[in-house]
Amino acid sequence: MFEITRTEQFSPSTFLWEVRAPEIARAARPGQFVIVHCDEMSERIPLTIADFDAVSGTVTIVIQAAGKSTLDMMAYKAGDRILDIAGPLGEASVIENFGTTVLVGGGLGVAPVYPILRALKLKCCRTISIIGFRSMSLMFWEGRFREYSDETIIVTDDGSYGQQGLVTQPLKRIIMERQIDRVIAIGPLVMMKACAEVTRPLNIKTIISANPIMVDGTGMCGSCRVSIGGEVKFACIDGPDMDGHLVNFDELIIRQKRFHKYEKQSLDLRDAQKSN
Ligand SMILES: Cc1cc2nc3c(=O)[nH]c(=O)nc-3n(C[C@H](O)[C@H](O)[C@H](O)COP(=O)(O)OP(=O)(O)OC[C@H]3O[C@@H](n4cnc5c(N)ncnc54)[C@H](O)[C@@H]3O)c2cc1C
Ligand code: FES
Repeated sequence: MFEITRTEQFSPSTFLWEVRAPEIARAARPGQFVIVHCDEMSERIPLTIADFDAVSGTVTIVIQAAGKSTLDMMAYKAGDRILDIAGPLGEASVIENFGTTVLVGGGLGVAPVYPILRALKLKCCRTISIIGFRSMSLMFWEGRFREYSDETIIVTDDGSYGQQGLVTQPLKRIIMERQIDRVIAIGPLVMMKACAEVTRPLNIKTIISANPIMVDGTGMCGSCRVSIGGEVKFACIDGPDMDGHLVNFDELIIRQKRFHKYEKQSLDLRDAQKSN
């Protein structure tokens, strides 16, 4: 069993867990993920490692309540225990001094960008962060980003904080005005696709984090396959980081919705059980 040592609610649907898992905390690298299994009856949920601390032996995950399992997870409190947490899984992000790197986080994608930003800064990269939320009420980790970014740009869809608009707008401006050596973009698939399209004409290497539906997370089931430059890759072992200019996003978007009917059924059943 693994203890949840701290929880924090960022918004009505977004929350953080710190879980005591010393071996994972020691081995974790930016870009990797864990699979959480709360109890015998629950499904296995892949979640990116948003932070890790080998000294306290904890890993941090930031979760968006997207359906039945993640809604159930929101009820856990500090001191509660979960059955299992497996990891670290996946290839770690490549961390080198790439020069000037723009890190783009959209919504929940802000959390997985953070350990990459910190590691790049420690490698002396010049870091420009663009973090975007639908609204100020959904924002989190501004302070963490300012600490490791040479420049931090915040955008909100509704203009309630920072610049109004989408993350692609400052990204477009920055790559036209300056020499940018690399872009890392993590967030919803449509956002990552849009960022890759912005950087494609200037051929700026753009890394995205692919999040197809995963089952085992170890390359055995084939659920997480992604087409990369016409080749089939498994996001759980070949990624999650992928070259954004080679990813077939349209296929990925369709595949991510393939269990929609069943996800809705299990959410409806949960609602019905709650109201009884
Ligand atoms: C490598 C990776 C890292 C991720 N990191 C995070 C994270 O840090 N924070 C976070 O909130 N979410 C993350 N996700 C997505 C998270 O796993 C899903 O939101 C979660 O599994 C949804 O489960 P549910 O039962 O609550 O919702 P459901 O109703 O079952 O699904 C809602 C949506 O979530 C996606 N999803 C469902 N099951 C899976 C699955 N097994 N694998 C991947 N996606 C799924 C589908 O797009 C689905 O339409 C990550 C996914 C992957 C693959
Ligand atoms: S999740 Fe099964 S192969 Fe990747």
